[in-house]
Amino acid sequence: MKVLRISARDTYPIRHQVLRPGRPIETCYFDGDTDEQTFHLGAFVDSKLVSIASFFYRRNTKFEEENQYHLRGMATLPDSTGRGYSSELLKVAFPVIKQNFCNLVWCNARVSAQGFYEKVGFETHGEVFDVPDIGPHILMFKKL
Ligand SMILES: CC(C)(COP(=O)(O)OP(=O)(O)OC[C@H]1O[C@@H](n2cnc3c(N)ncnc32)[C@H](O)[C@@H]1OP(=O)(O)O)[C@@H](O)C(=O)NCCC(=O)NCCS
Repeated sequence: MKVLRISARDTYPIRHQVLRPGRPIETCYFDGDTDEQTFHLGAFVDSKLVSIASFFYRRNTKFEEENQYHLRGMATLPDSTGRGYSSELLKVAFPVIKQNFCNLVWCNARVSAQGFYEKVGFETHGEVFDVPDIGPHILMFKKL
């Protein structure tokens, strides 16, 4: 498995299949996808993209850190889950984020994925909330 930087456009098929199935492709285009400080990582197995994650320079005022990254669009193809690909993407991302003088990463985690984030060192903040059409979420963060 190889982790590589990919473009926003490369993320759309997996975002669509895994995160927004049956919904218009436009729902897979995230604000800031092509901003200069945004980066996207992909895990490749035999040249096939199997797992993705995107990182946006964006502050959540619930946290006091001045410089933060927002993790979004974390997804692994269903036949490739449980093999460590998402954790590997995060292991590559954290030092890049630190190099950008940011020491906090946060995400609005699906409650169904909360266990994954806990395994990679994230903690919860506040209460579960609902995202229409997607389901229950919880704010999570990790200090780097
Ligand atoms: C959540 C998701 C991104 C995890 O990807 P993955 O490549 O399977 O993750 P990894 O293999 O790196 O998992 C790391 C660890 O977390 C565990 N884990 C993975 N998904 C989990 C989940 N949903 N709940 C609890 N634990 C989970 C794995 O078993 C593994 O544990 P181990 O270290 O003891 O073996 C993937 O299952 C997915 O795409 N789910 C659907 C979309 C989604 O919910 N994305 C998150 C949106 S917030």
